[in-house]
Amino acid sequence: MCGIIGFTGNIPAKDVIIGGLETLEYRGYDSAGVALLCDGEITVRKRTGKVEELKKLCADMDNPATCGIGHTRWATHGGVTDVNAHPHRCGQVVLIHNGIIENYRQLITEYGLADDIISETDTEVVAALIDKFYEGDPVKAIKKAVKVLSGAFGLCIMFQDIPDTIYCIRNVSPLVAATSDRGSVIASDLTALIAYSKDYFVVPEYHLLTLTKDGIDVRDMKGNEVKPQMLSVNWDIASAQKGGYPFFMLKEIYEQPDAIRNTVAPRVMDGMPDFTDDGIDDSVFENIDKVTVIGCGTAMHAGMVGKHLIEAKLRIPVQVEIASEFRYKNPIIDEKTLTIVLSQSGETIDTLEAMKLAKANGSKVISIVNVKGSSIARESDYVLYTHAGPEIAVASTKAYTVQVAAMYLIAARMGVVKKLVSDSETKKFMTKLINTPNIIEETLEGANDIKRVANHIKLSPDAFYIGRGLDYTMSLEASLKLKEISYIHAEAYAAGELKHGTIALITENVPVIAIATQEDVYEKVISNIREVKARGAYVILISMDEKVDDVKICDKHIRIPKLDPEFTAFATAVILQLIAYYTSEAKGLDVDKPRNLAKSVTVE
Ligand code: AGP
Repeated sequence: MCGIIGFTGNIPAKDVIIGGLETLEYRGYDSAGVALLCDGEITVRKRTGKVEELKKLCADMDNPATCGIGHTRWATHGGVTDVNAHPHRCGQVVLIHNGIIENYRQLITEYGLADDIISETDTEVVAALIDKFYEGDPVKAIKKAVKVLSGAFGLCIMFQDIPDTIYCIRNVSPLVAATSDRGSVIASDLTALIAYSKDYFVVPEYHLLTLTKDGIDVRDMKGNEVKPQMLSVNWDIASAQKGGYPFFMLKEIYEQPDAIRNTVAPRVMDGMPDFTDDGIDDSVFENIDKVTVIGCGTAMHAGMVGKHLIEAKLRIPVQVEIASEFRYKNPIIDEKTLTIVLSQSGETIDTLEAMKLAKANGSKVISIVNVKGSSIARESDYVLYTHAGPEIAVASTKAYTVQVAAMYLIAARMGVVKKLVSDSETKKFMTKLINTPNIIEETLEGANDIKRVANHIKLSPDAFYIGRGLDYTMSLEASLKLKEISYIHAEAYAAGELKHGTIALITENVPVIAIATQEDVYEKVISNIREVKARGAYVILISMDEKVDDVKICDKHIRIPKLDPEFTAFATAVILQLIAYYTSEAKGLDVDKPRNLAKSVTVE
């Protein structure tokens, strides 16, 4: 939810911190701040607005500090104000925080902190608490404070009287750390680390880190030194930069063919799905009689696509659950249920907690995650990593299509293990899956045509996506994409359901994007299109038709290649992503960092 970074080393910290915040800004950008520790003094600069505003605020700082922390905020407690921006200072302590301290109000009362607090944030309470406990031993003060905190936290802490040292500790909220020849660095995620090192470790929960320019000391709460498991990044810096595209989102749309190739290819052996290298044992599929799929937003939508395939091909019931709903249910799952959890970031708190509930009910969990070593990956029984590379734009695109591909791989392997599909049928299916990057590349060739569609949509406050079956599922993802980056109120509707009320909203020129790729219900969707056309809608039809000239059916036709019905999702997804992208761009909006959003929702 927020981006945090800390550095202490042998080069000036200011540029390291601000540069790191720029790469982390996709995690939240309501406000940003930096704190620099030098010669017994901590200088704090912070303000509302994006990191660009912070850079202006710090332009005159010639602070030689080689130790500092920085934060870019997605507001949870307290409005978007300069006072509520991080870092927060109290007495000797300055800190930054990612997460939510659930008991911060009772801590204010219990420890008499009210007079020390000037902001509305939970974070400042932590600074006041540590300062209250601080009597010269920072580790002791931090441990004492952490013992009474409840909730999620990733903390980077500096003490004014302790030179060139940063202390860190986490619970749930993500933190990764690395050392390099320039110093020690810690951040919310890898995008801020890879400029300093490709070797890193995930900060173990409830372990206290002491960062100095010479290295990182890791100790458990008893004070025992711990050697964390080292991981290595398979990205390069270029991957986390725009590469000439105007926005990360467009770059990531065009990266989808390679993202799918990189995700699928390592799981194909002799033309068959193979999870040997992932350590996913066939036994996880053998005795299951149903599947629960859990995720949020786009990740959940990818799971819904997988549901269509598993139910159609394997006749195994699949229940797709909204993670934030599931985690407060008394779920009907057991050891015969396979739970598949989807998350690009691997840090979405609702998904993480829902997964824990599924496990507590005896279900084995396979997670489909794009970030190595992330919380969801670490807590699941098995992980099927997607290899999409860093996804920076808040609107998820390549992560979605690789999640769909991963669901297809799982469905194929499940069919083999449970002997529900013959090897020859499976090989045919896998050939089509391996070919999907080419389908996407062919679809991308029509991008300019799609751009023209956006010029109509951008003028409307509302838009509708309609479809049946898999195309209705695609409509859900399409409407989310359009809403979150163009701020147009888009709604997805089962095409056959529209006439039961919502068609009242269809008036002259209202854009209706109709998806009709499922041949078994094609004529039904065409009938639904005629119903909205009759009421003045501006219809954009997405179908496999060679040509559609009948103006009674649509105003604009976008053709996708001829495909088997279950593979149209890969082509349709790209078109819907481009419609949203070009509409947002045409409105002159910040496509990568839409208002009110953040890339990873690590708070409830
Ligand atoms: C997608 O465009 C959104 N940014 C959002 O719905 C996202 O998919 C959701 O928050 C889940 O994130 P995750 O995949 O990192 O868990």
